[in-house]
Amino acid sequence: MKIRSKLPHVGMTIFSRMTNLANENRAINLSQGFPDFDVDPLLIDLVGKYMHQGFNQYAPMPGVQPLREKIAEKQQKMYGANYDADREVTITSGATEALFAAITTVVNKDDEVIIFDPAYDSYGPAVELCGGKPVHVRLAHPGYSIDWDRVKQSISSKTRLIILNSPHNPTGAVLKPEDTAELSKIVEAHDLYILSDEVYEHIIFDGKKHESISGRPDLAARSFVVSSLGKTYHATGWKVGYCLAPENLTEELRKIHQYLTFSTNTPVQMAYAEFLDHEDRYLDLGAFYQKKRDLFASKLKDSRFRIVPCHGSYFQMLDYSDISDLPDMEFSKKLTIEHKVASIPPSVFYRDGDDARVLRFCFAKKDETLEAAALRLCGI
Ligand SMILES: Cc1ncc(COP(=O)(O)O)c(C=O)c1O
Repeated sequence: MKIRSKLPHVGMTIFSRMTNLANENRAINLSQGFPDFDVDPLLIDLVGKYMHQGFNQYAPMPGVQPLREKIAEKQQKMYGANYDADREVTITSGATEALFAAITTVVNKDDEVIIFDPAYDSYGPAVELCGGKPVHVRLAHPGYSIDWDRVKQSISSKTRLIILNSPHNPTGAVLKPEDTAELSKIVEAHDLYILSDEVYEHIIFDGKKHESISGRPDLAARSFVVSSLGKTYHATGWKVGYCLAPENLTEELRKIHQYLTFSTNTPVQMAYAEFLDHEDRYLDLGAFYQKKRDLFASKLKDSRFRIVPCHGSYFQMLDYSDISDLPDMEFSKKLTIEHKVASIPPSVFYRDGDDARVLRFCFAKKDETLEAAALRLCGI
């Protein structure tokens, strides 16, 4: 029997493909976005503690109460946002599940969804699985800012949702207050929902402040705000994220969450609830990664790569136009096979490809990993 694919254009993700290629070629893997350093031992001890205390069965469907409360408190402290821990905070199996559930909550057949290219790869397929149509709007190279006139031109009577991501993967761009002001006018005029992917909220540099959509009541009232404890606490493999949304949206989102996963890992949720008291761990994250960004850039200063400014996230884009005319997919493969450094070709984050001759490198790595990779890149 031949299966009728629901996602005929989708294959194995670029992250798995590049990681496989890196492993086959024993290359330094700066492709996939995960740290190569350890989780805080205190957090690991807390997971063990809650396992020993018997927190090993299903968590409540919306997430354990102490974690929902701590997240609501943190959101208030960081951004002045008011979310009710019982009715407006949902713990999910990573941000990925929250994104999927939020999209499924509001997108119906033939609805259009604005997605900014380059875009994290899970948004488009989730929209398509709901029978919706992704409408791609390009971020302007090289600054990757949002062209709001283009956004206005892309809106139709069918537009239902706009998906934002700041700090941005793969470009490192961040939203500015002017962006949220423009966004506010547009969503109000066209009555749109917002899905704000803020998984890198604490990884922002050079004194910039994260513009959380949760911090603007007019926007928060029509938004799903998604974050990832895996990204914040260097524990991407534990897959715990969350979604903040007003009660009416959360009620519908939870109907989907309960049949997607029902609930997520109980002892890890309990451990995060206690660990969130250590505010320094997330407040210092920007400085921690800024040092890594700067180390990587300084080690590349004599290379033929050009550094694209990175204001947040843990990705550095490098322009290789002085080295090669190859398209980014070919150049990143060549770099992995011949020079033993794996990266991600950003063209895969565009619906129609891209030829800006840049590659994305993840700098969530030990200093020695970054130094070794930079040394190889300087040899090109
Ligand atoms: C922009 C963005 N959103 C969401 C995710 C997924 O987060 P999680 O691992 O919590 O599912 C990632 C992971 O790389 C990401 O880069």
